[in-house]
Amino acid sequence: MSSAAELKRSDNLYIHPWDDFVKIGEHRRTLLDRGDGVYVYDSDGNRLLDAPAGMWCVNIGHGREEMAQAVYDQIMGLTYVSPWSMTTGPAAEFAAQLAELSPGDLNHVFFTTGGSTAVDSALRFAHFYNNMRGKPNKKHIISQKKGYHGSTYLGGSVSGKERDKSNLHFETALVHHIDAPHPLHKPAEMSEAHFLDRCVGNLEDKIAEVGAENCAIFVAEPILASGGVIVPPDGYHQRCLEVCRKHDMLYLSDEVVTAFGRLGHCFASEDVFGIVPDIITTAKGLTSGYIPMGAFLVSDRLVDEIKSQGGDAAVFSNGFTYSGHPVAAAAGIKNLEIMQREELFEKARETGAYLQRQMQTLRDIPIVSDVRGRGLMACVECELIQGGDDLAMDYEIGKLIDKHCQKLGLIVRPIINMCVMSPPLTITREQIDELVAMLRQGILLAMEEIEASESAPAGAGSRHPSPAA
Ligand SMILES: Cc1ncc(COP(=O)(O)O)c(C=O)c1O
Repeated sequence: MSSAAELKRSDNLYIHPWDDFVKIGEHRRTLLDRGDGVYVYDSDGNRLLDAPAGMWCVNIGHGREEMAQAVYDQIMGLTYVSPWSMTTGPAAEFAAQLAELSPGDLNHVFFTTGGSTAVDSALRFAHFYNNMRGKPNKKHIISQKKGYHGSTYLGGSVSGKERDKSNLHFETALVHHIDAPHPLHKPAEMSEAHFLDRCVGNLEDKIAEVGAENCAIFVAEPILASGGVIVPPDGYHQRCLEVCRKHDMLYLSDEVVTAFGRLGHCFASEDVFGIVPDIITTAKGLTSGYIPMGAFLVSDRLVDEIKSQGGDAAVFSNGFTYSGHPVAAAAGIKNLEIMQREELFEKARETGAYLQRQMQTLRDIPIVSDVRGRGLMACVECELIQGGDDLAMDYEIGKLIDKHCQKLGLIVRPIINMCVMSPPLTITREQIDELVAMLRQGILLAMEEIEASESAPAGAGSRHPSPAA
């Protein structure tokens, strides 16, 4: 067995997501080797509260023995079969459970390997749907700036985070972005109603520009998660769905993050935002990250339409070796059983409200410029220079907060100048107090380090007052 030091060296041969190639060979990532509930432990035995639940995914918490047992039993019973020509009990049963829990008539499930492949497959489905009903021009996709929809070629293309668009190539002919409905972008003098009209108007304008006859689908996260937990104004999704209906476009609600309890319900589209979209994509909490799996759910209406217009055959030539993997499906079934037995959605509604209240107490820290969220999704945004837009400084704040929080025993997810929280649904009020206290201290220490550093820029804007001021 390799030592921790050897493993850290070997880790530099492992290209991680979003790796910086200039730093390959020099990375010193924290090596984690154990998890239990909301905590993980590093190779030195230090306990860390896992505030992002991995990557918004370990919803039932770490180290559940009955999940291990369910996975073991399935491997020993039947490891794998081809999803093309065969099926398995777990895959069929899990599909039926998801259909039962999903909103409206979203009763058909296409299993994938994760969120990116769910989004990619759903978009290919939208193209398939329009081909089958004789509308081959309706192929264009509209999505949101600050949205994240994955790392396949198409998923990356519909993602709208500008800072991720630098070094790769993307599909631009068929993909269009509109502004994210970010409440912070509402001018102070503008009413909520007017702001909502403007956000929805962005979609209408884009459809007019592209031509409704060319538009296939609108893609939106119920809450833009990795874009910084952006909660749209009330009524946004309902109004956008109406616009889609008017223009014969599909509405895809990307619930890779928001489903499976994060907002206190199995799916957020209907229960939180009052819409029944045409397609929902999901992953992460689907198996609580124990085994990779994703899915898109699609309405009976669309399936029936294809069926009635497809002629002799309507083959959807899209799928993966691991679509409906029985081990992943068995994990998904056990995950749902745990969530339901322990009433985790109901609990998340209560602890989510508490998390939001406690996070708001951070507003008194001078560099904290915004605190926002809903349910068990929260974001604290920091700004070193008032009104500044210095990317290097923004990155520095996030990295410093992350460094100090880790020393204090808290994992945060730094995204530029934001720290994002999405703890396991099992988190208690006491653990939320612990989280917020460590976060407060981590931000203050980061702020002090920046204030003390000689490299702090001078004259680039007005600096925030020191905490003592
Ligand atoms: C909203 C959303 N969609 C899609 C994805 C891609 O999922 P995956 O990383 O499982 O491929 C993510 C990942 O964070 C996501 O947040």
